[in-house]
Amino acid sequence: MGKGKKGYRLGFEKRDERERSFIDDLEKGYSESGLTDIEKLMNFSMYVPRQDIATFIYKYELFKRVVNVHGSIVECGVAFGGGLMAFAQFSAIFEEVNYTRKIIGFDTFAGFPHLSSKDSGSSSGHSRVGGMAVDSFKELEKCIGLYNRNRFLGHINKVELVKGDVMKTIPKYIKDNPSLVVSLLYLDFDLYEATKVALKYFLPRMPKGAVIAFDEVGHPDWPGETQAVIDAIGLNNLRLERCTFDTTRSFAVLE
Ligand SMILES: C[S@@+](CC[C@H](N)C(=O)[O-])C[C@H]1O[C@@H](n2cnc3c(N)ncnc32)[C@H](O)[C@@H]1O
Repeated sequence: MGKGKKGYRLGFEKRDERERSFIDDLEKGYSESGLTDIEKLMNFSMYVPRQDIATFIYKYELFKRVVNVHGSIVECGVAFGGGLMAFAQFSAIFEEVNYTRKIIGFDTFAGFPHLSSKDSGSSSGHSRVGGMAVDSFKELEKCIGLYNRNRFLGHINKVELVKGDVMKTIPKYIKDNPSLVVSLLYLDFDLYEATKVALKYFLPRMPKGAVIAFDEVGHPDWPGETQAVIDAIGLNNLRLERCTFDTTRSFAVLE
């Protein structure tokens, strides 16, 4: 797992002194706190940064949009797993007997396996083979086990982790799961080829009212995600809405 300042989420190299010292002091305050770990988790708004709470709320807003839409939630790009487990928790809270909705996460759990020429031009140090590597697979399996013990129908599996390069794993998943319906496709691979293959295989599985969410469409560091949407759907075929409080994120409801 990415620890401390090496964790990619921090993007330490792009932060100014004020932000860096905030992160240092946050880490210090958290580790020196007199609370137990469980007390800190239960009072998570004490230490979780505003930006991460905003992202969590955004995922809740997306979940609300699809709670009445039949089908599973597919997260393309899992990394640490906070996003995947947020959707899993919302499903356990708001539709505790809906055992048909699976929360399926695709990732190599070893970072980007390859990039294409459509991904070039990024100023991010992570835009390279092995970029954004987070080996969270085993830890996430343990988290899922704990999650199952704290929800209704926990004996019926809800969260699935699909490990490997999606150029192979997505076509195989569709072949092995011919009844898959997708209500929310959360695209966060950042790259051209992976995003395009996800759209090719999952879009035909999405009914009207389903939502496609994008993490990096329009982001200059990740041009491949935008290009894949243009090539696979056409931007002007989507009513692209933005999240008003979480800057880079956007989504479209299928009409
Ligand atoms: C930005 S991170 C995902 C972040 C996550 N959705 C979150 O909310 O924290 C992008 C992930 O996409 C994965 N990825 C990119 N290309 C991939 C591919 N071809 N196959 C599998 N995973 C891929 C990377 O390993 C990386 O973990």
